[in-house]
Amino acid sequence: MRDISLHILDIVQNSIAAQGTTIYIEIDEDAEKDLLTFTISDNGVGMDGQMVDHIFNPFCTTRTTRKVGLGLPLLKASAEGSDGYVHIESKQGEGTQIKAAFKISHIDRPPLGKIDETIVTLIACNPDIDFIYTHITNRGKFFFDTRDIKNKIAGISIAQPEILKFIGEYIESGLKKIGGGAT
Ligand SMILES: Nc1ncnc2c1ncn2[C@@H]1O[C@H](COP(=O)(O)OP(=O)(O)OP(=O)(O)O)[C@@H](O)[C@H]1O
Ligand SMILES: [Mg+2]
Repeated sequence: MRDISLHILDIVQNSIAAQGTTIYIEIDEDAEKDLLTFTISDNGVGMDGQMVDHIFNPFCTTRTTRKVGLGLPLLKASAEGSDGYVHIESKQGEGTQIKAAFKISHIDRPPLGKIDETIVTLIACNPDIDFIYTHITNRGKFFFDTRDIKNKIAGISIAQPEILKFIGEYIESGLKKIGGGAT
């Protein structure tokens, strides 16, 4: 079983492969609706309707190093296996939005996993990409935008170890305040 944060890592990798430069990651833990959703939106190359219609077929891939793509089929199996769903909206030349939902109380729902580490890893490996991360629970909202950090540290790389450490701690404490990230 894969943690949901590993699926998020996969889906964001797709956005990066599609040349996205601004990527939104939103996680919503809605205890009242008993639903955990995540939405990844990018401004990458997008897909045409035909591609979107076949996207859950493992043989639908623009990969060149192997002939199957597993990121989306695995996510779909995981979400539907816990009474959830995956929705895709995409426009060629504009970008893509992928939303996945999981029923929180479902016995087969994977844990969210280490979302703070996932976000830090994405920033460390892709310092030129802007990530906007929002995390919502019934207790509040946490918001983090790499553009704010980049403005403050003008000239220094966001991938510096001390800065990454700061970001990791900032996310961890922000999530603690809203009771997020532990589902
Ligand atoms: N955000 C996106 N923007 C544009 N195209 C996308 C996006 N996400 C997926 N695709 C297209 O859908 C295909 C299938 O994606 P999927 O993640 O299932 O497999 P993959 O990325 O090809 O391979 P793997 O995830 O196993 O490395 C991709 O090859 C790509 O053509
Ligand atoms: Mg993929």
